[in-house]
Amino acid sequence: MSNQFDVVVIGAGPGGYIAAIRAAQLGFKTACIDAGRNKAGDAPALGGTCLNVGCIPSKALLQSSENFHQAHSEFAEHGIDVTVNSFDANKMIERKDGIVTKLTGGIGFLFKKNKVESIHGLGSLKGQNGDVWQVEVDNQGEKSVVEAKHVIIATGSVPRPLPGADVDNQTILDNEGALNLTKVPAKLGLIGSGVIGLEMGSVWNRLGAEVTVLEAMPTFLANTDQQIAKEAFKVLTKEQGMNILLGVKINKVSNNGESVTVDYEVGGEAKSDTYDKLIVAIGRVPNTQGLNAEAVGLAKDERGFITVDADCRTNLPNVWAIGDVVRGPMLAHKASDEGVAVAERIAGQKPHLDFNTIPFVVYTHPEISWVGKTEEQLKADGVKYVKGTSGFAANGRALGLGQAQGTVKILKDAETDRVLGVHIIGPNASELIAEAVMAMEFKASAEDIGRIVHAHPTLSEVLHEAALATDKRALHG
Ligand code: FAD
Ligand code: NAI
Repeated sequence: MSNQFDVVVIGAGPGGYIAAIRAAQLGFKTACIDAGRNKAGDAPALGGTCLNVGCIPSKALLQSSENFHQAHSEFAEHGIDVTVNSFDANKMIERKDGIVTKLTGGIGFLFKKNKVESIHGLGSLKGQNGDVWQVEVDNQGEKSVVEAKHVIIATGSVPRPLPGADVDNQTILDNEGALNLTKVPAKLGLIGSGVIGLEMGSVWNRLGAEVTVLEAMPTFLANTDQQIAKEAFKVLTKEQGMNILLGVKINKVSNNGESVTVDYEVGGEAKSDTYDKLIVAIGRVPNTQGLNAEAVGLAKDERGFITVDADCRTNLPNVWAIGDVVRGPMLAHKASDEGVAVAERIAGQKPHLDFNTIPFVVYTHPEISWVGKTEEQLKADGVKYVKGTSGFAANGRALGLGQAQGTVKILKDAETDRVLGVHIIGPNASELIAEAVMAMEFKASAEDIGRIVHAHPTLSEVLHEAALATDKRALHG
């Protein structure tokens, strides 16, 4: 193997592997270095956090637990008389692991197909020889060097630690441990009611755990449109039985190996709860360990993110950084789109990624999704807006699915009619948001959405109705 490349990517998560494939498509001789290993730790595994311990495994567990819940509690109303005798968490984890193995293996196949050289090991910037970067690869002590004019850093993120709550992934769990429980805990505690807290809390809540979520902020889903967040809070707590406490201050976490006791304050009252398992999900921090960043002078901001400009250029010549390790939302699709854009910039193209049209999804039940501005942001920015809402309650398709809960809310500019934000809680919100993203990318007006023919009966009719409602002409509202 030659060690000379045009582009070397460090990290094969959704940012790095996509950047490598796009660079290779554009004719660059490309290598991708990744240190990730599979769950057993006995083989390399491509795909980063997303495929191994993030997006994909969490959605597999969400589906299994949702199926269990439906068989248990919802089939009867369809006239299906089943008795659910037991739940085998081991089997659920095995199924999840199978999906992970299939997809991580698939990236190896894509690399071969696109002629990306896949190199296993920890990559670090050694220095520059003329305008060529040298990157050292440490594969479990075996060292080698590869060279390239351009380096794309895509080393992702790791869980933010909570001082005093050391993760052992036996009793105190981060996302990896939370995705590998083989027994449903009777009492599950979660610190942080962010996306991981709500998704993982939903999984184990549906499977019968008594779930308590301890959240520091006084506001639930503070970055989400608050009308939607309030509806979600009500459904998750009152209907689904999750105990979500806001404005919590954690004082002490004691792990005796069998259970964990958390001492905390809420509403001025001191409390103490003991859980069989505790998941800590209080955000993630950029991962620059092992990159040799300081020695080569790679600039980072005060929170540890690699500093980049709007085009993902770092302060070092021809060194780029993308995904969770740089500013912006920590989302797989944001990482991938930055990867594509950087590869294209290296090729002299001028791609553009609009952060305002990046969709967000929380895979609770019902799902929550949004794109663009929230009502709170528009108020704060002094923008004159009009809102239109429509519910799933009277939507034929939603009723047929037995999931007629939720709302679509469209926010538009009062003067120009342009869509400024779309917020959904409801069935398949994760899929429905794509239409809103497309509309906003094409600078659509709410009237455009209102005049587009939506198939009947579909959930997308609720989006159509919400667009009409911004003009006070909803047909079913
Ligand atoms: P990563 O996926 O973290 O990949 C970085 C890779 O770089 C890893 O393979 C790592 O081993 C490797 N690496 C690090 N340092 C080095 C080095 N020095 N040398 C070589 N290799 C190195 N996002 C969504 O959009 N949708 C979801 O549904 C979703 N669900 C999630 C659920 C959970 C539980 C978690 C934890 C995250 C979830 N995310 C989700 C977030 C998503 O996983 C991340 O935004 C995404 O993985 C970031 O991609 P990345 O390529 O920047 O980094
Ligand atoms: P998060 O940022 O979504 O939520 C963390 C929560 O913890 C916040 O509500 C925060 O206020 C709270 N918190 C922080 N410190 C605390 C403390 N000391 N005590 C109590 N609460 C505290 O982070 P999370 O859930 O860890 O997920 C990390 C990232 O992974 C997300 O930001 C998201 O980008 C990504 N992700 C995306 C998913 C999706 O797109 N569906 C799913 C899961 C994760």
